[in-house]
Amino acid sequence: MAERIEGLNAAVEAGKVRHIGISNFNTHQMDEAAKLSKAPLVTNQVEYHPYLDQLKVLEDAERLGMSITAYYAMADGKVPKDPLLNDIGSRHGKTAAQVVLRWLIQQHGVVALSKTSTASRLKENFDIFDFHLTADEMKAIHGLARPDGRIVNPQGLAPVWDKAA
Ligand SMILES: NC(=O)c1ccc[n+]([C@@H]2O[C@H](COP(=O)([O-])OP(=O)(O)OC[C@H]3O[C@@H](n4cnc5c(N)ncnc54)[C@H](OP(=O)(O)O)[C@@H]3O)[C@@H](O)[C@H]2O)c1
Repeated sequence: MAERIEGLNAAVEAGKVRHIGISNFNTHQMDEAAKLSKAPLVTNQVEYHPYLDQLKVLEDAERLGMSITAYYAMADGKVPKDPLLNDIGSRHGKTAAQVVLRWLIQQHGVVALSKTSTASRLKENFDIFDFHLTADEMKAIHGLARPDGRIVNPQGLAPVWDKAA
């Protein structure tokens, strides 16, 4: 850990990068990394979508002044098919995918990642800045979280994840 954080800081000091961050860290690793780093660790990139509760990681990030960058927002194809997300989307003239990207960026300190090889979806996934989810809708989407909601968990690489709140 110390060697890796030192390497990231050296990249900042050399003017090679403006910001540094971490990925797939649990809260224990986040705390340790933050203690070791001279430059701010601006984000922890982790899996985050409606089926995975990341409250513990979000709370720790807030305490450390870090953001969370959410990957796997589409939850491996589950999001576009979800009835609740489609229902909320139809109220706003938006797709389920747009609802989830909006749900992410409407949370404090959350950055949404998005990936597509379909040109029309590229436009669709950017088109999320002209509507607002209500507090009830945000809560209903959080309510989709399940204990087995995590998708990315490679053996031998993944840390011991924080338990859902
Ligand atoms: N740090 C890590 O360990 C980690 C792990 C995973 C991913 N990432 C990074 O996270 C970024 C995002 O990747 P991701 O896999 O997490 O992306 P994602 O946005 O969750 O999923 C992309 C998949 O969803 C589909 N999709 C995208 N927009 C859609 C829409 N509007 N409607 C329906 N389907 C849609 C895409 O299909 P089409 O291409 O067919 O449109 C593609 O199969 C990438 O830069 C990736 O490198 C990091």
